[in-house]
Amino acid sequence: MRAWQVVRNGKPSEALELVELPKPEPAPGQVLVETRASVCNFNEVDGCYGRYLTIAPPLPYTLGMECVGDVVAAGAGAESWIGKRVTTSGAGGIGAHAEWVVGDPGMTFEAPPQLDDAEAAAFFYPFHLAHLGLHERGRLREGETVLVHAAAGGVGSAAVQLAAAAGARVLATVGSDEKIPIVERSGADVVINYRTANFDEAVLEATGGRGVDVCFDGVGGEVMQRSLRCLVAGGRHLVVGFASGIEAEEVPAVSGRVLCFGNFDLIGVILTYIDAPPGGIPGEYAPVPVPRFNPCSTETGRKVQAHLQELLEAGSIRPNVGARFDFESLPEALELMETRTTTGRVIIER
Ligand SMILES: NC(=O)c1ccc[n+]([C@@H]2O[C@H](COP(=O)([O-])OP(=O)(O)OC[C@H]3O[C@@H](n4cnc5c(N)ncnc54)[C@H](OP(=O)(O)O)[C@@H]3O)[C@@H](O)[C@H]2O)c1
Repeated sequence: MRAWQVVRNGKPSEALELVELPKPEPAPGQVLVETRASVCNFNEVDGCYGRYLTIAPPLPYTLGMECVGDVVAAGAGAESWIGKRVTTSGAGGIGAHAEWVVGDPGMTFEAPPQLDDAEAAAFFYPFHLAHLGLHERGRLREGETVLVHAAAGGVGSAAVQLAAAAGARVLATVGSDEKIPIVERSGADVVINYRTANFDEAVLEATGGRGVDVCFDGVGGEVMQRSLRCLVAGGRHLVVGFASGIEAEEVPAVSGRVLCFGNFDLIGVILTYIDAPPGGIPGEYAPVPVPRFNPCSTETGRKVQAHLQELLEAGSIRPNVGARFDFESLPEALELMETRTTTGRVIIER
């Protein structure tokens, strides 16, 4: 099969090679998917450069976190998936930019029937992550105010839509004026270009000095620090990602004093569904050293998917396909993402 492998570290056009590999075999419990579309995740750019420590298998490895296609084979125990059209995460968060992909059932969902392949590809990670952040972890309530960073992006545009669908007032940031109307169409009430304005001041102004209840932050670094000035007592800052520089992942960002005086919650959000034993998975089994690895349960994943399906049927949310590239153009697509000019999900079609 053809697969895009990271063979050396560098920018995507230097790091990636399109190679011929044997078709993978699903292990017990896994599914084998023949892909029709895969997705450019921002972290894959970091993966090419070799600075994404969370998913850093030895080179060469096949890049790609998620895809859409049909289940054509399955390991023992997963046979009921055969024949289904699914969105899935490549096992271990890799392998999805290929003709055949092995996925774990906990991270495999039936593709919503009303979505075409590109839309279904744009649906999975953004809406699941936004749901986990805003609802399961952020406890968002109707009438609250939410701030979403990088709101025109794949994940950000889903967070704006879900927050609006939950009856929240949505403030959003973007890195260029061209993105403002896109985010307004997603349902944001106020959109701030945080490269030309002090967004924290703009947020306080837009909320009459009160601030926001929830901040959905996939940017991190300086943006996180300034966001903490915008949180109300009892507010929730959701640590979702580090698009402004993945190195921030390793840097302690908040002192005890900031948390204590701020009287707010700092909340991590990880999109991984695995049925862990009672008490969680010991940190040494996580892909990177952490004191504790607490993935979400597969039951949580099924509940999130069911609620998202309802919202799709009601027309309250819609995946944002920002650009489509053919399979041969993956490096070009990832390099476009790096320029910070893409919106929505960048989809690779086969
Ligand atoms: N926690 C999890 O389990 C999980 C899972 C998947 C993804 N994520 C995270 O979700 C975030 C969004 O991912 P995505 O794939 O949807 O990407 P994306 O939002 O489509 O693209 C990244 C965006 O980040 C913004 N950005 C801010 N500062 C930047 C900088 N210095 N350089 C480049 N971009 C910058 C840019 O938008 P503006 O120019 O408008 O600011 C850019 O378009 C990422 O941080 C990713 O790691 C987390």
